[in-house]
Amino acid sequence: MAYILAALLFILALAGLSKQETAKLGCTSGMAGMTIALLATFSCVDTPASFIFIILAMVVGAAIGLYVARRVAMTQMPELIACLHSFVGLAAVMVGFNSFFDMGVAVVPTVEVSIDATAEQIQNLVDVEKAKAAAAAAGAAVMSVAELNTHLAEIFLGVFIGAVTFTGSIVAYGKLNGTFKLAVFKSAPLQLPGGHWLNLLAIVASLVLMVWFMSADNPPLAPLVLMTLIAFLFGVHLVAAIGGADMPVVISMLNSYSGWAAAASGFMLDNDLLIVTGALVGSSGAILSYIMCKAMNRRFISVIAGGFGSAPVKTDDQEMGEYRELKAPEVAEMLKNSSSVIITPGYGMAVSQAQQAVASMTEKLRARGVEVRFGIHPVAGRLPGHMNVLLAEAKVPYDIVLEMDEINDDFENTDTVLVIGANDTVNPAALENPNSPIAGMPVLEVWKAHNVVIFKRSMNVGYAGVQNPLFFKENSYMCFGDAKKTVEEIVANI
Ligand code: TAP
Repeated sequence: MAYILAALLFILALAGLSKQETAKLGCTSGMAGMTIALLATFSCVDTPASFIFIILAMVVGAAIGLYVARRVAMTQMPELIACLHSFVGLAAVMVGFNSFFDMGVAVVPTVEVSIDATAEQIQNLVDVEKAKAAAAAAGAAVMSVAELNTHLAEIFLGVFIGAVTFTGSIVAYGKLNGTFKLAVFKSAPLQLPGGHWLNLLAIVASLVLMVWFMSADNPPLAPLVLMTLIAFLFGVHLVAAIGGADMPVVISMLNSYSGWAAAASGFMLDNDLLIVTGALVGSSGAILSYIMCKAMNRRFISVIAGGFGSAPVKTDDQEMGEYRELKAPEVAEMLKNSSSVIITPGYGMAVSQAQQAVASMTEKLRARGVEVRFGIHPVAGRLPGHMNVLLAEAKVPYDIVLEMDEINDDFENTDTVLVIGANDTVNPAALENPNSPIAGMPVLEVWKAHNVVIFKRSMNVGYAGVQNPLFFKENSYMCFGDAKKTVEEIVANI
């Protein structure tokens, strides 16, 4: 009953999280569900020693979790998520090996007897029942051949998915963190010769090992260990081959994998709630990956195959032409003379924590009768909904915060667009240059407005590593400096 209740609360959590207004309620449902699940699991603990071990593990885990979660900056959230996914993967690997070592299975034949059974058939049945009782008394699980095969397949697949999730998430963590020197952690995709063939080879080799594992009389350890090593390498290669600009999809893809790894653990441990929760995470992660791919105009399969967001195309600023510059007081003047303004925030707003200043600028302008709205790109910032969270935190009204599709047609009738710390999400090269690494990605078409002011600290490239022709357009003005300081200066001038 407790597990059913917890599963329902998890479903309510997902439903709640789909809208800003109900997001907090969603979080609360999730926490309540997890508390019930933990208490119910606790009630099954049968020895005091296990109880003590679990409490110890929880105290250590919770202390580390609280410390990390309180310290982590909003912009590092995807890294933290990647790190947590790697734990789920590792846990699935360990549960799989534990299930294998702990198996102690007695395999019994299935005997069927009918009402007119012969004496010999009945004797057979009695023998089998005796064997079952003896095995159970010795602490072994009693299974038919079909049950044993299912259990072995669960172990093998659970360890495989867990191992891929574990190393894949570590590489994703390294790529997002950006401070590690190893080639696999570089933002540019690692393209080994015959990379796709290597992936195929890893899958075929794992299948062969699975046949070996399942067909031997006494399930051997060797194929399980070999497959785990292959899956570790496969996870590294799979994510290392994906370029930095596709990281949002990778994170949600690993989210999905971690769900399937948890579900596999649920099968191995015979825990229904873990299966349900894993399936919820697995499928919602898969849906999120699909939405991300659509937002970036990528085919899911080509993201997984890797390569996009590849080598940054080095474009000389000189080639692009001249850029113009405005100072904060001039931007304030321009805003005062505008009747419509759209703000398109990006990663830089999060870095400089400019959301409060942006909110008070919005309030001031609205008080003067200027129409102010926000245009949010689906992958602006570093995690889904990043900008919405920051703006909600700064109490910007929800009804003036619009999605890209809702606002993209309005730019041409807008006086001034403020691009605050965004770069890739407003890059016209995505539409104009078929050779650009971000070609085809839908972007906010800010350049159609009468004036565009771009707030950033330098002429540096954005996350995808490509230069932005927007900065050199005739109606564009750069406003250099830390976004928070600049916006505060503008507020003072207004
Ligand atoms: P980006 O393309 O990352 O550009 C952000 C810009 O902000 C940089 O060009 C930087 O220029 C500027 N900036 C940094 N610190 C600043 C500060 N303190 N003050 C003012 N400006 C500052 O941003 P975007 O347009 O939001 O695009 C997001 C990118 O991240 C996309 O490529 C997306 O695929 C990727 N990504 C997204 C996610 C999700 S799920 N949203 C996850 C991972 C990756 P300066 O250095 O010159 O200041």
